[in-house]
Amino acid sequence: MTEAVERKIAQFILELDDQDAAALYGRLPRGKRLRAKLILKIAGEGIMAVKTAAIVEMIHAASLLHDDVIDDAFVRRGNASLNALFGNKIAIMFGDVLYSKGFYELNGIDREVAKVISNAVIQLSLGERNDVLLSEGFNHDKEKYLKMIYQKTASLMEASAEAAALLAGKPREIYRTYGRNLGMAFQMIDDLLDVTQSVEQLGKPAMHDYEEGKATLPFIYLYEAMTEEERLALSSLHARVLKPEDQQWIASMMQRYGIVEKCFFEARLLIEEAIVLMQDAGEHSLEKIARAMIERSF
Ligand code: FPP
Ligand code: MG
Repeated sequence: MTEAVERKIAQFILELDDQDAAALYGRLPRGKRLRAKLILKIAGEGIMAVKTAAIVEMIHAASLLHDDVIDDAFVRRGNASLNALFGNKIAIMFGDVLYSKGFYELNGIDREVAKVISNAVIQLSLGERNDVLLSEGFNHDKEKYLKMIYQKTASLMEASAEAAALLAGKPREIYRTYGRNLGMAFQMIDDLLDVTQSVEQLGKPAMHDYEEGKATLPFIYLYEAMTEEERLALSSLHARVLKPEDQQWIASMMQRYGIVEKCFFEARLLIEEAIVLMQDAGEHSLEKIARAMIERSF
């Protein structure tokens, strides 16, 4: 259903009239286009919805280009990241191109829709900065983690759903909550998969978040549950390259304290709320998108 969005992005890229940019765009893996799907499912496939979806996906792609530089990540969606292939400078500058073209195109859509999206991009940027700041130590504070993932991930999904509701003349608050819950659960599950899945399943190194200094929800809950001695051992591994035996120890501790189930339960509560909202609104395909998010394997 997102072919029209792909065509619109391709047109935006063509309008840049720049062969390098076109070639780099060709090297970018497309991704799930989750935000575009939300927009089209809520607002239909009219030109304004397609344009909004294309803008959001370009901004999202730009943010991931920058994020991979910030995170020193060399793999994205199972492929070499652009920074791995061409270096940080190229990745950052191409991110800037996608981002600024997206913002330029925001001028051509409804003012309120543009406001909702541009505000989310501020949140996105603050969230990424907070992610980096929180990684400087072992963050044990769940509220800080929740605020950061709201900003970094949920804000753009929330804005996509709200913007689409505005375009379609649907009640914005319901869709806003739906998008926010989906985004929060998405990031929680992403963080959970980082500790439960293997390198092959993830398409990126396992437990990389903790090595990078990121204490995600599983680590916050694990720390809460541990004895003083175990806490010391866990803290000593923070922001270090983990040996296979360290990874195994963390995994066994997660299992002992039922951490995966606890995190999954929390993500599921958010998804269940989103499902009920969409059931009441008669939005069955949006309900299905929410369900699919917690049906990933652990
Ligand atoms: C991925 O998080 C990062 C984000 C969703 C947001 C990144 C935002 C910015 C870099 C700031 C905004 C920049 C622009 C150009 C708009 P993650 O590292 O937890 O996820 P990952 O495993 O997919 O890398
Ligand atoms: Mg990252």
